[in-house]
Amino acid sequence: MKTAITEMFGIEHPIIQGGMHYVGFAEMAAAVSNAGGLGIITGLTQGTPEKLANEIARCKDMTDKPFGVNLTILPTLTPPDYPGLVKAIIDGGVKVVETAGRNPVELLPPLKDAGIKVIHKCTSVRHSLKAQDIGCDAVSVDGFECGGHPGEDDIPNFILLPRAADELDIPFVSSGGMADGRSLVASLAMGAQGMNMGTRFIATKEAPVHENVKKAIVAASELDTRLVMRPLRNTERVLTNEAVERLLEKEKRLGDELKFEDIIGEVAGVYPSIMMEGDMDKGAWSCGMVAGLINDVPTCQELIDNIMSEAEAILGRMQGQMAA
Ligand SMILES: Cc1cc2nc3c(=O)[nH]c(=O)nc-3n(C[C@H](O)[C@H](O)[C@H](O)COP(=O)(O)O)c2cc1C
Repeated sequence: MKTAITEMFGIEHPIIQGGMHYVGFAEMAAAVSNAGGLGIITGLTQGTPEKLANEIARCKDMTDKPFGVNLTILPTLTPPDYPGLVKAIIDGGVKVVETAGRNPVELLPPLKDAGIKVIHKCTSVRHSLKAQDIGCDAVSVDGFECGGHPGEDDIPNFILLPRAADELDIPFVSSGGMADGRSLVASLAMGAQGMNMGTRFIATKEAPVHENVKKAIVAASELDTRLVMRPLRNTERVLTNEAVERLLEKEKRLGDELKFEDIIGEVAGVYPSIMMEGDMDKGAWSCGMVAGLINDVPTCQELIDNIMSEAEAILGRMQGQMAA
């Protein structure tokens, strides 16, 4: 299938694996790219330019297909060395960067000068338009369903995607709640040129995370995610567990008085224990409602091949219905 996104990124299928903290290592990105999608290494999981350069080199050893790097721009007093991370990306010969979080305008000049395509992930039409205005090449439109940070507007993709299609001139992919061929056809119908998936890619054979994480996603239904940190306007969709229920109880009890320090134990620095050691109640970890649609742990190749053949079958069936 050829779309503006497959052509822009030089990939076979219009399917992207979004950056994921402690999941988006070289093994994950290479498996997705080798299967014809666009795999993405998570820059901030590496943290320093040296480690990111090493991860990019490892990924290049595992695939000769294009892959990207995610740079999440966090509101923090002690920011990571973004210019150094950008330099590692450029020096590593990476061709695509997925930005997310705050406005990436300061990172764009060196990336654009190096001929790198930038896709910015955002959760609203106004932020998508801003990304277009500042020179991003594409947008990943992340609906309320998504795992991770859905923003504060709570607009699901059935509204957000057609709204983005009506307003944007640059290509965009759907993100949040995407799992299969039905998701891809629906995304295309709503004006997207491809789709981005997070949670679905964690439940794959190659995802370099503990088996408990994959089992938790397969066991979860669409009712099992919760929104945390809304009082701090830093809303995150996570899979419920003991720590999340404790966190929500604190949010309820402290109301407007809640501060980040009150919940630091449940949210800060918990990813290594969860993703690497499988300590599933250690803290809050991002997971999408799409867990309800995930019932297996295929290889990335099987997943992407199944998505493409299901999408083609649906399109064929629809054409048949139109002709009848
Ligand atoms: C465990 C996990 C960690 C994530 N970490 C990041 C991250 O560090 N940076 C980022 O931009 N997005 C992050 N995301 C969001 C994904 O890139 C993607 O936008 C989202 O998962 C899409 O929704 P879905 O899970 O319904 O497919 C994360 C998602 C998950 C599930």
